[in-house]
Amino acid sequence: MFSINKILRENIKNLTPYSSARDEYQGEASVFLDANENAFGSPLEQQYNRYPDPLQYHVKKRLSEIKGVPPRNIFLGNGSDEAIDILFRSFCNPGVDNVILVPPTYGMYQVSANINDIAVKNVPLTEDFQLNLEGIAEAIDDNTKLIFICSPNNPTGNSIDRTDVETLLANFNGIVVVDEAYINFSRQKTFIQELTEYANLVVLQTLSKAWGLAGLRIGMAFASEEIIEIMNKVKPPYNINEASQQLALQALNNIEQVNSWIKETLIQRDKLVLGLKEFDFVVDIYPSDANFILVKTTDANGIYDHLVNQGIIVRNRSKVELCEGCLRITVGTPKENNILLQTIQNFK
Ligand SMILES: Cc1ncc(COP(=O)(O)O)c(C=O)c1O
Repeated sequence: MFSINKILRENIKNLTPYSSARDEYQGEASVFLDANENAFGSPLEQQYNRYPDPLQYHVKKRLSEIKGVPPRNIFLGNGSDEAIDILFRSFCNPGVDNVILVPPTYGMYQVSANINDIAVKNVPLTEDFQLNLEGIAEAIDDNTKLIFICSPNNPTGNSIDRTDVETLLANFNGIVVVDEAYINFSRQKTFIQELTEYANLVVLQTLSKAWGLAGLRIGMAFASEEIIEIMNKVKPPYNINEASQQLALQALNNIEQVNSWIKETLIQRDKLVLGLKEFDFVVDIYPSDANFILVKTTDANGIYDHLVNQGIIVRNRSKVELCEGCLRITVGTPKENNILLQTIQNFK
């Protein structure tokens, strides 16, 4: 049986979190001489002289309306990369515990594991980029704390079979992290609705992709109240700055714009696939549920260099296991996609 107390690190269980200046009083106040801020203001039109809300009440309230999840089940990180790091720091004992990754997948899971000195057990995806459930079951031991599943997966673009993820959630006594950074582009349902079903589920999403706010650095984790409380305890107190909170709030009121970009991205993705299929050095284009496509070619390095020489940057994934010969191409604007196709046309 999954038990949060069994997997939580002892030092985190015993941690007294930093108590910020504004945490220590109740009620209304108008004179704030408690946080050593500059009381005169900021040398800007906008005033940022006060520390931001550590628990981002307003942003979470709006997200809660959009996602249908109470604010107490939402954690905000400085990008979902911070949420990934905080999961390691909360649950994995350096030099002792391990996590399971299913490559090819998003690179930060491995980097975060390395930074935190956590062993990684790699169980590669199958040839059709799905989970090897038997391999995962064999790899799990008493010190396995986290399993990262990215769906839709980066860099392959496909969604992971839902029932396989559910099998993991039902049988693994650690935390299953389902990274849904690209969910807005997907035909699949989010796992957020499963939070009531599985106490060991953490769903990651981000404002960096479909929401067009990569520069603001806001990632979300959705999980049980217990897990969110732990993550809030471990995070730096003011991890989402005031400007990001204000701008995110404005953006979250502009869903129509985001939805129309998502539609347009999917149209452009189909066009890009059709265009790329014309080239005989394109061997395969994998089905995508995301805003990028993984393209298998006869000469990934050659095409990559050719594009770089023309000022076009794609991601060369040809050295990644199961992605030999592959380039990962983000869907751009119609103009950008045309430039890409025209430039590739000149590749010999
Ligand atoms: C699968 C996946 N998760 C998380 C991230 C990081 O997102 P953020 O910008 O919120 O840190 C990325 C960024 O490329 C990603 O591809």
